[in-house]
Amino acid sequence: MTAFRPAERPAMAAGSPLLSVEDLVVRFRTHDGTVYAVNGITFAVAERETLGLVGESGCGKSVTSLAIMRLLAKPAGRIEGGRVVFEGRDLVALRDDEVRDLRGRELAMIFQDPMTSLNPVLTIEEQLVETLQAHRRITKEKARSRALELLAMVGIPQPENRLRAYPHQFSGGMRQRVMIAMALALEPRLLIADEPTTALDVTIQAQVLELIKDLTAKTGTAVILITHDLGVVAGMTQRVNVMYAGFIVETGSTTAIFERPSHPYTVGLLHSIPRLDESEDGDLIPIEGTPPNQRQAPVGCPFAPRCAWREARCWTDNPAIVALSAGEAIVRTGPNATHQIACHNPPTADEAAAGRPLRRGFRAAPAPGGSAHDALDGLDTPAGIGALESASVAESLGSGPGGSSAGPPLESFRPEADA
Ligand SMILES: Nc1ncnc2c1ncn2[C@@H]1O[C@H](COP(=O)(O)OP(=O)(O)OP(=O)(O)O)[C@@H](O)[C@H]1O
Ligand code: SF4
Ligand SMILES: [Mg+2]
Repeated sequence: MTAFRPAERPAMAAGSPLLSVEDLVVRFRTHDGTVYAVNGITFAVAERETLGLVGESGCGKSVTSLAIMRLLAKPAGRIEGGRVVFEGRDLVALRDDEVRDLRGRELAMIFQDPMTSLNPVLTIEEQLVETLQAHRRITKEKARSRALELLAMVGIPQPENRLRAYPHQFSGGMRQRVMIAMALALEPRLLIADEPTTALDVTIQAQVLELIKDLTAKTGTAVILITHDLGVVAGMTQRVNVMYAGFIVETGSTTAIFERPSHPYTVGLLHSIPRLDESEDGDLIPIEGTPPNQRQAPVGCPFAPRCAWREARCWTDNPAIVALSAGEAIVRTGPNATHQIACHNPPTADEAAAGRPLRRGFRAAPAPGGSAHDALDGLDTPAGIGALESASVAESLGSGPGGSSAGPPLESFRPEADA
């Protein structure tokens, strides 16, 4: 890809991450009340790093990315706390025109449905040329030849002919390729890809993901990849944030998350997906219940109603996210990023592998004042069922947050390939 990067990018302090999200709070103030969409999340992305954002529908993945891009639905959606520092500048404090200038040039986004971001009444040429000319002082002719180069780069056959086509004349996969061309046209420093392939069939999904991976590696673009698909996370990312109800509940290198999932929700996610290497004891275990109603201010751990490991305090006391190994210094980016979880009673390695608590006699603490929100109520809760007799379980009993990090790796969750 031809170097297209402007020379005048701001210098960042040595060692600073490219993006630093600090205690971000996003609310929607609607006629029906407040939606507590994102509840104080902190994470960072280094240059050229690929971070996955995973979690069930409604957990705040898109809202987080829209907040970073300053594209929240107005007037209901507001950043009500925190900072989003990109290349040393707090995006939350920038004027709209300053953020507009950064979008496309330094920060780009690919949406799940390309038709929401492509203009149906303009040809691909008009849209690409417009994007290029909005941020670069180049002639229309140069912009057009760059547009051609971009279409060829994303694998659109006969780009000369396709340049004059309208978005509806492309198939879903080809439209998504056009979106990738638009997003990477200016070689941004950070690309946010929000479920970029869920609307596509499986073979096309793999091609589009491969394309994103190859092109961002070439342009040196860091990526936040939002997906429901843990297989995609394993193959595409170096680090993962697991989100639940507007919180980050676990974060770490992709290898650490798959080898040693340590938050009950992550454990649940990994046990609820089919795996190619399914063994005889690898039955799928669905996560009972549904995520909490985010129209109510969070009280206690948001996962408590669905958690087989919960203790009485979980109903009232939401744990902070801390290093899995107690006292470890926090590294936020890179291959040595600290594995962190927000949990009062983390599963041991054996429990994570089994997908249920194994401590003899342990039962999930009942909801105070009744079971209205208890997704485990009435179920033969997994807690204590078939408790393993193994010495390794006995050894791991009583280990607090971080105390269980010495457990054996979960071979079955190992990522397919290093990102
Ligand atoms: N414009 C809006 N007005 C009110 N609430 C909203 C709006 N957009 C999002 N929300 C709410 O914010 C919360 C987080 O939504 P978000 O779209 O970020 O979820 P998500 O993790 O991206 O889910 P999905 O996987 O389904 O895309 C949800 O409770 C959602 O209903
Ligand atoms: S053990 Fe408690 S804090 Fe940890 S996930 Fe379960 S309910 Fe939340
Ligand atoms: Mg979303």
